[in-house]
Amino acid sequence: MAPGNAPTQTVGPGFKSQAEKPQATVSVQVPFDNVRILPQSPQLIALLSMIRSKDTERADFIFYSNRIIRLLVEEGLNHLPVMEHTVTTPIGSTYNGLMFQGKICGVSIMRAGEAMEQGLRDCCRSVRIGKILIQRDEETAQPKLFYDKLPEDIAERWVLLLDPMFATGGSAIMAVEVLKSRGVPEDHILFLNLIASPEGVKNFATKFPKLKVVTAFIDEGLDDKNYIVPGLGDFGDRFYTI
Ligand code: URA
Repeated sequence: MAPGNAPTQTVGPGFKSQAEKPQATVSVQVPFDNVRILPQSPQLIALLSMIRSKDTERADFIFYSNRIIRLLVEEGLNHLPVMEHTVTTPIGSTYNGLMFQGKICGVSIMRAGEAMEQGLRDCCRSVRIGKILIQRDEETAQPKLFYDKLPEDIAERWVLLLDPMFATGGSAIMAVEVLKSRGVPEDHILFLNLIASPEGVKNFATKFPKLKVVTAFIDEGLDDKNYIVPGLGDFGDRFYTI
């Protein structure tokens, strides 16, 4: 989609008539079964509006980003396998419930992905977290793996791959190649991100059809410097430094 052509929608609860409800830009939709976009709720759009604004200061940027990260992690966990788990309650009744099946770990794409680690730790006690550093090779201009530290038994785990901004998809594609080379099956990887570009999503979803992407929002496109439009600028700078 060309920048400037974002879909808009009336948003808000039922006490306002359709005509009174505010209009907001909502996520671009894409035709890939393996891409899950968070429901475009008033809450999510209000949170995204905070982190997108250039006037939002760092402390607020961190707070509101963390709120969205929490929503993403919560949704991501719904895509992990579960098995039956029946428990007895204190009054002697049984409840036919569920429990997660299998081990998980997080893998953050440094540095911005590290901002999502706490949100994962808040939901999954003692979760193992690995890291991957990918940067542009100055000579070839291609993404290059500079560093990785991954759990030794990663091939037996479900992996939540973390990177808040999904622009061209170059780093995420390389990160998935690294995980696959360590024995992680493609369908055991969930990629969580806040804002994606349609180009990045298309690249990724066609290359890795078995992997699931969970994103809060797909934006309109990329500018000539590969920033997401309208985006929020440089996530790492806004979360860690400015
Ligand atoms: N990374 C960011 O932090 N922002 C973008 O817009 C694209 C990549």
